[in-house]
Amino acid sequence: MSFWNRRRGIDDATAAHGAQRAQLRRSLGWPHLVALGVGGIVGTGIYTLTGEAAALAGPAAMLSFLIAGAVCACAALAYAEMATMIPVAGSAYTYSYAVIGEGWAWIVGWSLILEYTLVCSVVAVGWGGYASGLIHQAQLPIPEALMHAPGAGGVIDLPAIFIALAVAALLMLGTRESARVNLVLVIVKIVALAGFVAFCAPAFDAAHFSPFMPHGFAAHEVDGVKMGVMAAASIIFFAFYGFDAISTASEEARNPGRDLTIGIVGSMLICVLIYMAVAASAIGAQPVASFAKSAEPLAQILRLLDHPKAAALIGGAAVVALPTVIMVFMYGQSRVFFAMARDGLLPQRLAAVSAKRGVPVAVTLLTGVIAATLAGFMPLSRIVALANAGTLCAFIATAASMMILRIREPQRQRRFRTPWWPLIGTVAIVGCLYLFSSLPAETLHFFLIWNALGLLIYLFWARHRSALAPS
Ligand code: ALA
Repeated sequence: MSFWNRRRGIDDATAAHGAQRAQLRRSLGWPHLVALGVGGIVGTGIYTLTGEAAALAGPAAMLSFLIAGAVCACAALAYAEMATMIPVAGSAYTYSYAVIGEGWAWIVGWSLILEYTLVCSVVAVGWGGYASGLIHQAQLPIPEALMHAPGAGGVIDLPAIFIALAVAALLMLGTRESARVNLVLVIVKIVALAGFVAFCAPAFDAAHFSPFMPHGFAAHEVDGVKMGVMAAASIIFFAFYGFDAISTASEEARNPGRDLTIGIVGSMLICVLIYMAVAASAIGAQPVASFAKSAEPLAQILRLLDHPKAAALIGGAAVVALPTVIMVFMYGQSRVFFAMARDGLLPQRLAAVSAKRGVPVAVTLLTGVIAATLAGFMPLSRIVALANAGTLCAFIATAASMMILRIREPQRQRRFRTPWWPLIGTVAIVGCLYLFSSLPAETLHFFLIWNALGLLIYLFWARHRSALAPS
């Protein structure tokens, strides 16, 4: 077997190297995991990209939400099956290593690092935007140049750097403490979205849904911008993921079989329902054109409905609650590093777990610093699409791992079984590929460059240091 497709094996991944494995503390029950999922899913996507989706697809953005949600739901089922079968840190990277082979696992892990880092940075910058607004209102003497990245008219985005480092510090205090804070913040953002729906309901007008699909279905370029239902779906896809980060917490789940299934499937279903309600309320309450270009579409709609206080409250909720998304992704990132280092593919020192706290401190700090640096100096434009590319790669790998294993080892015990697996697995893979192809061309180019760089590191360094390399 060549280094490219040498495999860890399911039993090896879950048990054999358990003795040498630095143990993470099993401190999370299913409510923590559902909250971790919802905490990772509900964020910048629904709070800010709803307007962008409406601009690209018109009222048919409802369909974009439905398509992105359906693809994610299929992927979520594959994740639930794999996470309960291989309840160790590392998510899609670990499944690919156990089922497909080391080379593909490297590509998936490398893509996950891109995804998780970029999501943390994107949300930190989004938070920084809201925080700057509050700083303005409070008339604090902080120069504009210190509140925006170079590409956005400033020198450095200090609020974004602050929040990225603050979340890293919280994670370093220990998983359980962080999960508790997460639970409270998740409730804040759900209540804010429920309030939005309640304020919009009396203004609902079905006439706002016509014409339904003004920009067509398939992604096509109009003046250099990809438009249509699928183009909107490939962007709004950002709003739906985050549940995958739960699977990276497998080694910290108290009862992985039951709790991970409830966590992944439950958080996904809750979010699909909330999003459909928010999207229908937004489009039903105001003509799409009135909020499509807004950077804060939900607050904008409430202002147009003459509810300025509610608009301010939903803005405040975003500031309070967006850090949960950074927390979930930073947490997932540290676990992917942890798993790759443990397998010898990244420096072993990164895998060191603090005996006192039960968390990998070094990698959490490293992740926080990298995400903060990107957030402080990178303009937001197009980062969202790149984060989506990395995620789609991981979803495809997980669905493929689920299907390959069903064929290769049909008798293996599964704590959760994906219903109609050939159909669900195929829809997940084909759906992700279609969304991938609907992304901007330059995103796909950068994604290839990132992975070419990763492959060089793998071929010249990591594969020789792999725990599976012949000694
Ligand atoms: N789903 C997450 C968000 O919307 C990434 O912010």
